[in-house]
Amino acid sequence: MKNKINKGVLLGLLVGWVGVFTTAAATPLHHISAETCKSCHKEIYKQWKQSMHANSSAMKDPIHATFYKKVVGDPTKEGVKHKASGKYPVCLQCHAPNAAKDKTTKLDAMAAYSEGVNCIVCHTLKKYKGIQKPDGKLQLGLKAYEWSKDAAQGPGRHSNVGLQKLAAAGDVFGGGAMEDDSKPNPHLGEPVTMDGKEIPSIPMESNPKLMKTSDACMGCHDQRNNPHGVPLCQTGNEYMLSDSRVNCLSCHMPINDGLADHTMGGGHNNSILQRSVVFDVSTKKVDNKVLTTVYLKNPQPHSLPTGAPFRNIYMKLAAYDAEGNKIWENAEGHPGKKDPQAYFVYALADEKGNPAMPPTAKQLGKDTRLKPHEERTLVYEIPAKGVKLVRGELYYNLLWPVLNEKFKHLPEDLKAPQLIAAAESSI
Ligand code: HEC
Ligand code: HEC
Ligand code: HEC
Ligand code: HEC
Ligand code: HEC
Repeated sequence: MKNKINKGVLLGLLVGWVGVFTTAAATPLHHISAETCKSCHKEIYKQWKQSMHANSSAMKDPIHATFYKKVVGDPTKEGVKHKASGKYPVCLQCHAPNAAKDKTTKLDAMAAYSEGVNCIVCHTLKKYKGIQKPDGKLQLGLKAYEWSKDAAQGPGRHSNVGLQKLAAAGDVFGGGAMEDDSKPNPHLGEPVTMDGKEIPSIPMESNPKLMKTSDACMGCHDQRNNPHGVPLCQTGNEYMLSDSRVNCLSCHMPINDGLADHTMGGGHNNSILQRSVVFDVSTKKVDNKVLTTVYLKNPQPHSLPTGAPFRNIYMKLAAYDAEGNKIWENAEGHPGKKDPQAYFVYALADEKGNPAMPPTAKQLGKDTRLKPHEERTLVYEIPAKGVKLVRGELYYNLLWPVLNEKFKHLPEDLKAPQLIAAAESSI
């Protein structure tokens, strides 16, 4: 009996030691899953997990996956190519950067690939080179950066520990004071154990010039063109035009409970959408008309809506009688055709100027979105008879109506218009 226990303990120790050495030596930083970071950074993990960064790969985002399968192929197969270029799919440089580091396309091979833009993707970006190569071609996503294989990058609040290390050299307890009471720190050069889990060494460097500026975002969010050179997303260009000095982090990573918030909401997040616009309706009765003025202002240093070209917003305006019956409206259903001024969208076109899909568009169509910081007023004359109240509602949509029709397989919540603002005026 005694003998058996000893063997077990011995074996356990052996496995333990081998475990420590192999994980410490053999885990490249970019294979570390967000689940590992979660052991200690629980709040940030929770915020990240509900963000589109955690859902950016074709394994997780149904809208991205629909396009990816069409223009590339199966995200669980090795060796698939971007059909139009015959090359390694550029999508992965932004949507699954850890896979791009290994030049693999089999995204289910490990968590660090299918997790898309996970912790270590952003926290190993070292220097932003810009998305323009010297020859004028674009270098996108990871390719716009120098990234580190050896050390994670932090904003500097907890990673300037040189002085503490020097002071600890004369400390008989070997610097135990550098660890926080609630959790050990794996960023000081040694692997640690947390809740019985082996955590590999994750060295940390202070890099405020990247981590505290828009450089941390621009490689993936500046601009992306389709194979015909037509810009699909261009949040970066919009921002440059706005001449703003406010960086992306001030809105997208506010301090929340003492920590930089990692929710990074956009079109999929109703809370940030609700603060994306100033919307008001005012009325004046003139003779037998209600003269109605709708006011919109975009407070952002980028367009509203920004991002993927199929994002759009429309406005519904209606007049009601004393019983709350609708007696007038700017358009029945979607106002795109009947009241184009109430539709804010970025259209893509073919050679002839007809609407086109992102992968095949040959030129930009009309851009009726609100430009950075733009104020716009829309004027309506409503027949006054019986009108007691005029109400406007703004709806945000992830996709163009034609895509909502086409993508029958998508979950309804991704296709449902989201109310982001309402305003009323009584007569
Ligand atoms: C899209 C890029 C991005 C992703 C993904 C990301 N981070 Fe961050 N993180 C940042 C930036 C930028 C900062 C610096 C914010 C600042 O200080 O202004 C930061 C700050 C931090 C901080 C310091 C917080 C503070 O306020 O002191 C911690 C800890 C952290 N991140 C952990 C994580 C973990 C854990 C994950 C994954 C669950 C993660 N990050 C995912 C970009 C990212
Ligand atoms: C075993 C616990 C543990 C794990 C696992 C862990 N960290 Fe940390 N991390 C810490 C501690 C302790 C600090 C010091 C600040 C604090 O108490 O939060 C810290 C600080 C940080 C900071 C702030 C650095 C700065 O410059 O202010 C970042 C960024 C960070 N960790 C990222 C990560 C990422 C990314 C992972 C996963 C790859 C990770 N951490 C895994 C314990 C951990
Ligand atoms: C490595 C590339 C990369 C970096 C760096 C990056 N992002 Fe992202 N981001 C993405 C991708 C890819 C998506 C979209 C995923 C999807 O919808 O499939 C995304 C989504 C977003 C969204 C949400 C869009 C939506 O549809 O809801 C916001 C907001 C955002 N990022 C802000 C930021 C900010 C702010 C930074 C800098 C701190 C940043 N990102 C850094 C790649 C990146
Ligand atoms: C003044 C606050 C503010 C600043 C500064 C700001 N944003 Fe935004 N951003 C928003 C709001 C609000 C939304 C939601 C409405 C929209 O889509 O325009 C948004 C939406 C987004 C989206 C979502 C697009 C999508 O497809 O869903 C991305 C990506 C984004 N911003 C990136 C950035 C980047 C990159 C920067 C820095 C260059 C930046 N933002 C600066 C407030 C801001
Ligand atoms: C330069 C980085 C980058 C590259 C390269 C890239 N994307 Fe994206 N993609 C983004 C970002 C950032 C977002 C989300 C924010 C936005 O809308 O701007 C996004 C959003 C999307 C969306 C909308 C997802 C949603 O949830 O609504 C689709 C679809 C998409 N990308 C498809 C692709 C495909 C297919 C490829 C490759 C042919 C590709 N992307 C290449 C950065 C990139």
